[in-house]
Amino acid sequence: MSQQRLKIEAAKAALKYVEPGMVLGVGTGSTVNAFIDELEASGIRLEAAVSSSEATTERLEAIGVEMRELNHCGDLELYIDGADEVDDHKRLIKGGGGALTREKIIAAASRQFVCIVDESKCRPLLGEFPLPVEVIPMARAYVSRQLTRLGGRASLREDFVTDNGNLILDVRNLDLINPVRMERDINQIAGVVTCGLFAARAADVVLVASESGIKTR
Ligand code: 5RP
Repeated sequence: MSQQRLKIEAAKAALKYVEPGMVLGVGTGSTVNAFIDELEASGIRLEAAVSSSEATTERLEAIGVEMRELNHCGDLELYIDGADEVDDHKRLIKGGGGALTREKIIAAASRQFVCIVDESKCRPLLGEFPLPVEVIPMARAYVSRQLTRLGGRASLREDFVTDNGNLILDVRNLDLINPVRMERDINQIAGVVTCGLFAARAADVVLVASESGIKTR
């Protein structure tokens, strides 16, 4: 099965968590795009959605979903999003699409975070995928130096500005044996908006699509 087919299978599996009339948090990326297609095909009518990116908002609006600002909602019942890497403890690296900050906010404000991935994203240890870090533009060089002190090698994502008007540093070589501590250490650097480690607030459920079907963690 192709990776795209597996993403569609993971997206389909997420539908069973979605209830008609709910206000749903929706992430960003190609797996989420597959989920939006499946949501449309399912005919499930949401009350509204809270989106983690302009790209997702555009797609949801195109299928007739009403958008709502997070500030106008209480905590959300459910957030559905993909990931770049997942470990056995449901901790994640996210931000390949650069939407990590809004994704982290919505995950924090949601009672249940269901993460949808194909099996290529599963790792015994996080860190093969470069860790995205969103930074305030004037802090770019300072934050890069601090990340070097933490053992990383940061490179600026070229020609990319986040929906929040910031930059992304992609960081290789970090030791992520303790992802909760690294998440905290990076987030404490002045000028960092947030990093793409979702360890302190991991996913609640991970749906992994593989050749042998869906595995639920
Ligand atoms: C975007 C993300 C995505 O969830 C992550 O990059 C996975 O994307 P895809 O579903 O396209 O593989 O964190 O910021």
